[in-house]
Amino acid sequence: MKKYKHFETNAVRSQISRSQNKEHSVPIFATSSFIFDSAEEARAAFADETDNYMYSRLANPNTDEFVEKLCLLEGTEDGIATATGMASIFLALVSHLRSGDHIVASRSLFGSSHQIITQVLPRWGISHSYVDYTDTKGWEDAVLPTTRLFFVETPSNPGLDLINLEFVSKLAKNNNCLLVVDNCFATPYIQNPSDYGADLICHSATKFIDGQGRTLGGAVVGPGEVIEQVRFMARQTGPTLSPFNAWILSKSIETLAVRMEKHCKNALILAKYLEKAPGIKTVKYPHLESHPQFELAKRQMRLGGGLVSFELEGGYERCIRFIDNIEMFSVTPNLGDTRTAITHPASTTHSKLSTEEQNAVGISRELVRVSVGLEHTDDIIEDVERALQASK
Ligand SMILES: Cc1ncc(COP(=O)(O)O)c(C=O)c1O
Repeated sequence: MKKYKHFETNAVRSQISRSQNKEHSVPIFATSSFIFDSAEEARAAFADETDNYMYSRLANPNTDEFVEKLCLLEGTEDGIATATGMASIFLALVSHLRSGDHIVASRSLFGSSHQIITQVLPRWGISHSYVDYTDTKGWEDAVLPTTRLFFVETPSNPGLDLINLEFVSKLAKNNNCLLVVDNCFATPYIQNPSDYGADLICHSATKFIDGQGRTLGGAVVGPGEVIEQVRFMARQTGPTLSPFNAWILSKSIETLAVRMEKHCKNALILAKYLEKAPGIKTVKYPHLESHPQFELAKRQMRLGGGLVSFELEGGYERCIRFIDNIEMFSVTPNLGDTRTAITHPASTTHSKLSTEEQNAVGISRELVRVSVGLEHTDDIIEDVERALQASK
């Protein structure tokens, strides 16, 4: 695909070659397999002597377009589209790990990533050490002779804690380890982990990339030689994205820049309002000066993102009353939608963590996560104001 100078142009203009029909918009290749003109052509394709399409578990024009576009935006060479964000994370990890290996991971992770690391990988003899996001010495001390990979999520779900990608990437390189980054919250519009030397970048495209709460999807992207093993694993195990979902996600990328600008603008307005609102104990937003890692956030993230997390005064019951009194926001665990969404992480997305594990990453029972949508900020604030009053 041709690479233009600017993110927006790449997002809009990169597409696969047109067919003889010269369609303007890319069609959906809803086909499970592709045909060959001869047995010899089929043999050569399966022997990787040609790059003909063969079977949609292996490759399909729609999934190729989606992933090639994402590679342009992330500044990486190659990638694999997956059915969900979790499939991309699992694939990134298992493709490069084997029994006896050790992972160093940031403690603040999405609930299912945490479950993979603590419940799934140990079944195959893969161990881990968690490190607190700001504990520089902790990162260094956690590295063992068997450490093969670092896994981080930045900003984290739901605490909005940041990992210093430059520091962690250098440490990973010095120890011959791969750095895998979950870039779901930031999207490639806000930060490119490859700028810091990240090896594999995972996305839940279900979130801001789709942006309208319609499909599940994901991708893992990185340098060609690192993706090679990921491709082998994906082809054999089949966590493939459907052509239809790939088509939706590829079209969605065209508007990612404008949507992210507005999500971030609205989120900052809400975060600033919450800082002064009665009944709010703490507010976390990367581009608020009060964020403990504000300097890093300004350096590493072009904008502050579309998520705001906050704690309410008055304990758990007040927090639940507050959510129940919200009228316009959707009470839903998804995020990155045009519609503002509110969730209570301790009892939903992170409920599989023990209370100690929740406390260790700042998920209190009073914590609320809001994915700020594209509605008018007056209406967003009015909904919060009313729910704060009603839940007193
Ligand atoms: C940071 C992060 N990574 C990964 C995922 C998983 O994405 P999916 O639901 O597409 O599997 C989520 C889902 O909320 C998430 O918040």
